[in-house]
Amino acid sequence: MASSDLMVGLEIGTSKICVVVGEGRPDGTIKILGVGQAPSRGVRKGEIVDFETAMKCVHEAVVDAETKSDVMIRSVYVAISGSHIQSFNNRGAVTLPEDRDEIDEQDIEDVKINAREVSIPAQNAFLHSIIQHYHVDGQDGVLNPVGMLAEKLEADFHIIHGVRTRIQNTIRCVKELPLEVEDVVFSALASAQVVLTPNQKGLGALVIDIGGGTTDYILYVDGAVKQSGCLGVGGDHITNDISMGLRIPMTRAEKLKIDEGSAVLGNCLPGETVQLRDDSGFAGKEIERETLNTIINLRLRETFELLKKKLEEEPFINYVGEGIFITGGCSHLKGIAHLAEEVFELPARVAHAQTMSGLTSAFENPQFSAAIGLIKYAQAVQTDRPRPRRFGRIFGKLFNGMRLS
Ligand SMILES: Nc1ncnc2c1ncn2[C@@H]1O[C@H](COP(=O)(O)OP(=O)(O)O)[C@@H](O)[C@H]1O
Ligand SMILES: [Mg+2]
Repeated sequence: MASSDLMVGLEIGTSKICVVVGEGRPDGTIKILGVGQAPSRGVRKGEIVDFETAMKCVHEAVVDAETKSDVMIRSVYVAISGSHIQSFNNRGAVTLPEDRDEIDEQDIEDVKINAREVSIPAQNAFLHSIIQHYHVDGQDGVLNPVGMLAEKLEADFHIIHGVRTRIQNTIRCVKELPLEVEDVVFSALASAQVVLTPNQKGLGALVIDIGGGTTDYILYVDGAVKQSGCLGVGGDHITNDISMGLRIPMTRAEKLKIDEGSAVLGNCLPGETVQLRDDSGFAGKEIERETLNTIINLRLRETFELLKKKLEEEPFINYVGEGIFITGGCSHLKGIAHLAEEVFELPARVAHAQTMSGLTSAFENPQFSAAIGLIKYAQAVQTDRPRPRRFGRIFGKLFNGMRLS
């Protein structure tokens, strides 16, 4: 198998490290060859806080993926998260020189660079400039302007940026192993590649990826990314609330949340309880079911309301025709889609990766959406720009970000 057909996605999550090995097929589909996993340590709210420990965990997950897929991993696409990730929309413009009237590839690059000529915080670097729409001499809705006659090319971009050192630390953690980093991709952008179909992006959709310590989101209208970002709160906060509220150990609280918890209230019989059996060092306890669900409901409701408030700073949420797609480990929580519908007043569903072949169990698990999405992202990048791999590209990109910030 030619190594260029192989693509590897790595997500360094707060709960788990996940490595997905995929193979690009000539028909454009992807086959998942194997998934490696390791519990995550040294990561808080999506960001590395203990470098050595995180590195060991990544290594463990990579070795696991190598064993499962029978592939030697040399380079990876890495998902990045953390509440330092920010975004905005901006328009770039270029005027064609007098002696040329046809738009070329360089103009496309230049208009992107122009759109980045805005001030972002000095410590930040650009992660993505995602094209929304081109405008050719005022004509809207142009999909591919190369070759068109024009005097002026304008383009709207969704620009995602984050704190440079935090991005670099993630890259370093992988490079030290040593593995090459092909690209760094915002987690929710990766998830959306496999959770949504192009049609759903066109009709408008919001993807919410709720993991252990973060809630990553991305919103599409008319097939274009309009809003994206990350809240530093996730499923582990629910577990923490259960532990504190019911005065039980964290491991017990986690198991209770997964096995018995629900985000919906009013479905229990009055006085219905869950019995926690005694265990080494734990005396056992009777928990009122509605109390447990109330703790879950309150935290999750607060998270959704926080997100709703952020999204409502712009009008795009009103154009989300296909509704909300919840993914990530926390989407397993019973009743979560129901609660999202209540808060956002939009249809909501739990979603996992689609349009793949190979390991069914892998892409049916919403915990793997981001890592699988990286493979799809990688395939799109490689199809778009068929050229030899350029290692060290990330540092070039970050450096570029520094110059432009
Ligand atoms: N079956 C389940 N029911 C409820 N929550 C779950 C379930 N499985 C995992 N989770 C929660 O999902 C979170 C981890 O999600 P994941 O997407 O793997 O996180 P990350 O990408 O941050 O590592 C944890 O808070 C965990 O408790
Ligand atoms: Mg995640």
